[in-house]
Amino acid sequence: MKKLVINGGIALNGSVGLQGSKNSSLPILAAAAAVNGISIIHNCPDLSDVSAAIKILEHIGCRVKREGGTVIVDATGACRCDISETLMREMRSSIVFLGALLARFGKASMTPPGGCEIGLRPIDLHLSSLRSMGVEILEKGGILDCSAANRIKGCNISLAFPSVGATENIMLASLGADGETVITNAAREPEIKDLADFLIKCGARISGAGQSVIRIEGRCSANIIEHTVIPDRIVASTFMAAAACAGGKISVKNVNREHLIPVVHAFEVSGCEMEFKADELIFEAPERIRRVRYIRTMPYPGFPTDSQAVVMAMLTKSRGTSIINENIFENRFRHVPELIKMGADIRVENNSVAVIEGVNRLHAARVTACDLRGGCALAVAALGAEGITFVDGIHHIDRGCESIEKDLALLGADIKRV
Ligand code: UD1
Repeated sequence: MKKLVINGGIALNGSVGLQGSKNSSLPILAAAAAVNGISIIHNCPDLSDVSAAIKILEHIGCRVKREGGTVIVDATGACRCDISETLMREMRSSIVFLGALLARFGKASMTPPGGCEIGLRPIDLHLSSLRSMGVEILEKGGILDCSAANRIKGCNISLAFPSVGATENIMLASLGADGETVITNAAREPEIKDLADFLIKCGARISGAGQSVIRIEGRCSANIIEHTVIPDRIVASTFMAAAACAGGKISVKNVNREHLIPVVHAFEVSGCEMEFKADELIFEAPERIRRVRYIRTMPYPGFPTDSQAVVMAMLTKSRGTSIINENIFENRFRHVPELIKMGADIRVENNSVAVIEGVNRLHAARVTACDLRGGCALAVAALGAEGITFVDGIHHIDRGCESIEKDLALLGADIKRV
């Protein structure tokens, strides 16, 4: 089993470029299946989740070529609209292929994604929204059989919660719908805006992406689409937390300042200094960071649940007590027992509130990543801990970070994959 070996206690100093966003790449790759043409997608990170999406595209008949950071999808030969359980299981977010296949073929068949490490991940909002668009969905034998006998129809959908995946699925299905679809209480994440930009290049008319009300008029007229995926704001926050935990001064290139606003405040309160120059962030940590009194994870533009674990890791060494309230997923504190092995003082209440008493020092330990962002948190803590930490379970980290050891080494960390 591969593991990360991190010799901590060394202040970071260096410069790293940010990878493309995983959470943007996946729905955009799914969208490529909806297009009877060729999509050229730049800045697509080389991740196991992206490989899983490519496998699905190939399975349904697309020809896919990867040239460095560019993925070229020729979907002209796409002919299947069923996705097997094995492919669905490889990546929970494969559910976004549902909207894309419905837009292209008017039908789709797949297994529901089921729960995962971070929570139950129900898809009731995806399904009820698609039903109101005229899609008939039969759930039998663990298979979702979906079809729109009389074409998909644009309609008004008001989401009970601004789910990212449900918003994406509605947008994708709308590409093949007659008339206008209006999503109220839509997710506002930057990845939604990125998907909308791709769909607009496909020929769709979309307004309001990035805001609570999105209007979509589906149309897919283009046959060659070229798009560059936005930078990964969550990986950016991981580098920031790493520098805050280990100390030092780093530069992160290819950042989008606006996307980082929801996390900047927490870093400022902790005493870190940030300077944005065009697409570069210069980040400097104080000798010892201060506590952040209270962080609540919220849908964008609130504090992102995906940055919760790495920020918790940095706060373990802060001066004072910090409280983190996790509001999005029910099982997102699995890194806590591992951080405790490194000397952190954290108490979890009701699986939704973590009270972090800052300690003077963390020490090395053998720890195991249980999910993607929790795994990154262990790497962050290890960089600030004295001694050599071994992090197991790094396949979780590889789902979202292109090459965590290379990137952190560029920032001056002593880190190896063995
Ligand atoms: C996406 C991101 C994930 C991020 C999350 C929240 C991708 C590939 N993943 O996940 O990294 O942590 O947004 O920012 O983009 N819910 C329901 N019913 C539904 C759908 C969602 O109850 O039909 C609930 C979920 O259980 C969860 C909350 O809504 O508690 C948020 O989920 P959602 O926004 O849909 O997240 P994902 O799209 O799965």
